[in-house]
Amino acid sequence: MEGRGQASPGPATDSSGPPGRARLIRDIVRWGDPRLTAENAPVDAGEEDLSGLIADMVATCHAAPGIGLAAPQIGVNKRIAIIDLSVGADPKGVLVLVNPVVVEQTGEQKEEEGCLSVPDLAEKVVRPARVLVRAADASGAVREVEGTGLLARALCHETDHLNGMLFVDRLRGLKRDLTWRKIRRAREKGLW
Ligand code: NI
Repeated sequence: MEGRGQASPGPATDSSGPPGRARLIRDIVRWGDPRLTAENAPVDAGEEDLSGLIADMVATCHAAPGIGLAAPQIGVNKRIAIIDLSVGADPKGVLVLVNPVVVEQTGEQKEEEGCLSVPDLAEKVVRPARVLVRAADASGAVREVEGTGLLARALCHETDHLNGMLFVDRLRGLKRDLTWRKIRRAREKGLW
């Protein structure tokens, strides 16, 4: 998810990645790429070493800068997403979500939302005011994450990505038509 008005990202070469391997800033896949709508495979985090992939996702997200990134956005069709509302400012701010599922949602909020895969476009999207998401962490331990406000939106936005859905798919009526037209026009002009 795009970060709006956030501080500039930290250096890509910081040491928070796994030892012995540099973190890589990957190319972000943009709207229209079939990998954004392809099926994403569940991950057994207890079996598979995800540290390299997660480090790259965090580096890519911070560099963008963004507050969240899902694996299909770097062309990896696995059910993994990360969220960091601090955009790298808080070393403990990174939330890793493996196989996330929204198990509870209440209320409603409507705020502006953007996506790193849909550059230069932000629209108000209706989301739950509060969500409870069940997901494994990087080691495979399953826990529940509760979010309200911006975190609730980010949890929904990234979980949507893993179900092949972008925020523009959540728009309704005329707003939806106008937004899709804007996207097509930008693509035709080669703006992405
Ligand atoms: Ni997004």
